[in-house]
Amino acid sequence: MNISLKPQTSQPARALAGKVALVTGSTSGIGLGIARALAAAGADIVLNGLGVASEIDQTREQLAAEFGIKASYSPADMTRPKSIAEMIAATIAQSGRLDILVNNAGIQHVAPLDQFPVEKWDQILAINLTSAFHTTRLALPAMRRNGFGRIINIASAHGLVGSPFKAAYVAAKHGIVGLTKVTALETAEEGITCNAVCPGYVYTPLVEAQIDGQAKAHGVSRDQVIRDVLLVQQPNKRFATVEELGALTVFLATEAAASITGIALPVDGGWTAH
Ligand SMILES: NC(=O)c1ccc[n+]([C@@H]2O[C@H](COP(=O)([O-])OP(=O)(O)OC[C@H]3O[C@@H](n4cnc5c(N)ncnc54)[C@H](O)[C@@H]3O)[C@@H](O)[C@H]2O)c1
Repeated sequence: MNISLKPQTSQPARALAGKVALVTGSTSGIGLGIARALAAAGADIVLNGLGVASEIDQTREQLAAEFGIKASYSPADMTRPKSIAEMIAATIAQSGRLDILVNNAGIQHVAPLDQFPVEKWDQILAINLTSAFHTTRLALPAMRRNGFGRIINIASAHGLVGSPFKAAYVAAKHGIVGLTKVTALETAEEGITCNAVCPGYVYTPLVEAQIDGQAKAHGVSRDQVIRDVLLVQQPNKRFATVEELGALTVFLATEAAASITGIALPVDGGWTAH
């Protein structure tokens, strides 16, 4: 039992020193913000995602230099189970451990259900949901060996509620909330936690890309989409920031969050309080 009293300690500045964190889809947006926050807390980082090789290399070098950690990069495509398996195996071979897994890679496509491109449905389900099944099942043995693990799934407010024109995204994000609960239950006694973070709108390239799509779907201007379509759901009328999501992820990865598992935590300015 863990009921003996421990002296009160404050969280050290580099609370994650010695840990290894892999963040899928961390060449941009929220994933990059989370990778930076984990690196600032002392974790070694494995970056993953698409992009221009020279720019990714620069990001990797910058992270290592700025925070004094080791940073590597895997180009694994999250639609390909074999690439995902190679990424996890390489991480464990390189570092001997994998402590923090952030399933963040995600894409969006906006279209009415009866016109939703079938290949987009398959791609969104693969990247936003199935990739997390593969990374999780492959990371668990290493976490179990160390008696420690943190799996943080970047879901969405759309993991909790629906919106029109986002069939695949909403289905995938509800799916990852379900996967989070099962992962938490299967690992509950093993020092491993699994939680979903459910952001509302965060201004990133993914959101920028949907503004034009939504403008066409609703027949309105970009400014109207931002005010009346995107942030209409978000009572606090502001985009969340990648720094806020980074700080939350660091907290969930620390010992202070040892009893938090299986939750889907909204970071949505009150959207899902409606
Ligand atoms: N931005 C928001 O408002 C918002 C809100 C809720 C949830 N989210 C979720 O947060 C996550 C990150 O979104 P973002 O806004 O930072 O988007 P983004 O487009 O800025 O970043 C997406 C990342 O995923 C990577 N990626 C895309 N396809 C990939 C593939 N096949 N293999 C490997 N990597 C791939 C990209 O390279 C990039 O690094 C997504 O899961 C998204 O659904 C975003």
